Amino acid sequence: MNKVKISASIICADWLNMGKALKELAAEGIDYLHYDIMDGFFAPTYTIGTDIIRQIRDNTLIPSDFHLMVEEPARIFQRFTPRAGDIFSIHYEACRNLHRDLMTIRSFGCKTGVVLNPATNLEALDYIIDDVDVITIMTVNPGYTGQKLVPQTIQKIKRLKDKIDASGLNIELEVDGNVNAENIPKMVGAGADILVGGSSGLFIKDLSLSESVVRMKSDINEGLKLRGQDG
Ligand code: DX5
Ligand code: ZN
Repeated sequence: MNKVKISASIICADWLNMGKALKELAAEGIDYLHYDIMDGFFAPTYTIGTDIIRQIRDNTLIPSDFHLMVEEPARIFQRFTPRAGDIFSIHYEACRNLHRDLMTIRSFGCKTGVVLNPATNLEALDYIIDDVDVITIMTVNPGYTGQKLVPQTIQKIKRLKDKIDASGLNIELEVDGNVNAENIPKMVGAGADILVGGSSGLFIKDLSLSESVVRMKSDINEGLKLRGQDG
């Protein structure tokens, strides 16, 4: 019931052994593959493009979790051939017509996702919350792997969880950035439903994927125990 999902950040995987990584992620029951797409403008660097993503998707059954860190992303939605069941997330800060863009995503049959940067207020959600399936709280600023948590975002997760509960809507809360052993219990305790496993929690040097997943699950359980303890 209270299963917290793991979305594996594919840019953090071992690119020289991607086939092996995909098989291991499937064997571990990873829920989503998280694709970070950056345009060198909204986010200060570049990551992967559509051809590479297509190759990965052709070789896995794990659903996609697209995270577009792209200015006016509606220009390029179709290039990702979004499928029913995928999460397709765009940034509040990057869309002039956010509601229209969410409706376009919904027309693909995807789960509609909105992402908020650390400095963005939760009030930004007020007039679109009825039309989103997944809300992502960035716990680092978009752009780079391996950054440190922006600490005030933990309180923000808690406030968003309360807001979702008060709305009565069926919305999943995703957390992206520095999801590691130290932060997972706090993130899950505050209400995270989906965790992005990146360079700090899942793809760790000297640990196998299976060892990292065992560790993440145990940290998730710690967090679940914390839920509700603050009243
Ligand atoms: C940050 C990206 C994340 C990142 C998270 O801009 O969106 O997906 O890969 O992984 P960490 O913070 O653990 O390296
Ligand atoms: Zn991401």
